Amino acid sequence: MPADLSPIDKAKFAAAKCASLLVEDGMKVGLGTGSTAAWMVRCLGERVREEGLRITGVPTSTRTADLARQLGIEIVSLDEAKWLDLTIDGADEFDPELNLIKGGGGAHLLEKIVATASDRMVVIADAAKEVAQLGAFPLPVEVVPFGWQTTRTIIEETLISMDVLGRTTSLRQNGSQPFVTDEGNYILDLHLNRIGNPRQLAVTLNQIAGVVETGLFIDICDMVVIGGAEGQVELR
Ligand code: 5RP
Repeated sequence: MPADLSPIDKAKFAAAKCASLLVEDGMKVGLGTGSTAAWMVRCLGERVREEGLRITGVPTSTRTADLARQLGIEIVSLDEAKWLDLTIDGADEFDPELNLIKGGGGAHLLEKIVATASDRMVVIADAAKEVAQLGAFPLPVEVVPFGWQTTRTIIEETLISMDVLGRTTSLRQNGSQPFVTDEGNYILDLHLNRIGNPRQLAVTLNQIAGVVETGLFIDICDMVVIGGAEGQVELR
């Protein structure tokens, strides 16, 4: 473990290190986005350099692609790889059914495309990400910039009709400008407090024309590796 890490980074590192050991020679691997996923990419980079591990990585963001390249990991596009053995990624929340909220880093669209083109998705997280019910973390929804304010109104009306607790939405900002995703879209963060039926909400939001994808990952994650500050890990 690198020296001088904060307790939270020690936990993220422990989960990332453990999951990186699931990667075998010759595998095609989806590389997630975020601070926990970045630890996993560093661990894989170390295995590539020190053990001669041969892998092909499919990054889920330009940030992850840059990091993987710097570390000497061969990267290809999803279309070149076609199908992946394993995706390892972080999450903002996971519930007892291993449903997730993702997209805190604004990459959930590519993350979902990559995860659903993989035999397995393994999530790496610290214990604070475990919740009884999803929704305390604002739900990211990627929307097309064209008519985004109308899309926002439709989303808010949909939330009212579904009797969802919290209904506030906010446009994610990057300084004084809207945050723009790798695919050129905007993100609306939905402040819901508690999501009673994540599957129904995901299906309903995806029916709105201006919505590209939500950060709800339903039935996609196969396992969660939870890291602890003492270097211990727990599997769910
Ligand atoms: C990015 C994501 C991240 O995986 C999620 O936000 C967790 O990030 P971190 O590991 O930094 O807490 O979904 O879109």
